[in-house]
Amino acid sequence: MKLLHLDSSVLGANSVSRQLSAQIVARQRALHPGIEVVYRDLAADPVSHLSSAHMAVWQGGESQDDGLTADLHKGNAYLEELFAADILVIGTPMYNLTIPTPLKAWIDRIALAGKTFRYTATGPEGLLKDKKAFIASSRGGVYVAGSPAAALEHQETYLTGLLAFLGVTNVTVVRAEGIAFGPQAREAALGQALEQIASLSA
Ligand SMILES: Cc1cc2nc3c(=O)[nH]c(=O)nc-3n(C[C@H](O)[C@H](O)[C@H](O)COP(=O)(O)O)c2cc1C
Repeated sequence: MKLLHLDSSVLGANSVSRQLSAQIVARQRALHPGIEVVYRDLAADPVSHLSSAHMAVWQGGESQDDGLTADLHKGNAYLEELFAADILVIGTPMYNLTIPTPLKAWIDRIALAGKTFRYTATGPEGLLKDKKAFIASSRGGVYVAGSPAAALEHQETYLTGLLAFLGVTNVTVVRAEGIAFGPQAREAALGQALEQIASLSA
């Protein structure tokens, strides 16, 4: 069994989403002894935004630039790691109402027609079957359904929608929100999320 662990917060050791994603991975290690974990810190080591130079190579051109070649190799490795994984654990804070840009850059390398999804006569079809995903979500405010800011929630909904588009529909969200509402609110949100992780049975 293989697990792909992604983090995307820029807050390093102070990050809530990193703490949650690490705990989810620890829980999965306990539930699946021997599971192989591949880790990517997307904040520390991101790929570039896609450019016309990337497109030219994707369309059959040759890269003349060592930096571009290395960046394309990293993107290919992302795809291989994703195909190999049975379980995805994605740590994501909310930044400006959505996911951090390095995580979006990861998505831009793995959401590929003909590889992870395809267009059919009846619409798009996700090609990533039999994978399970955990989203470790953190955010300063509160965006759950029914809250005043719920309509601005484009982080978890975007990521779960994207995963479903690729065929990954078995998704568990572990969330700590209201982190900016003071130390007590932060501890309560974190504690609740950690309890949820401890009770994961698969
Ligand atoms: C660049 C940036 C943008 C942010 N944008 C939002 C936002 O739109 N809504 C929100 O509720 N919190 C926002 N926050 C707060 C973070 O979501 C919050 O601090 C969260 O705990 C960060 O996750 P982390 O602890 O894993 O880094 C932002 C933080 C940063 C650094």
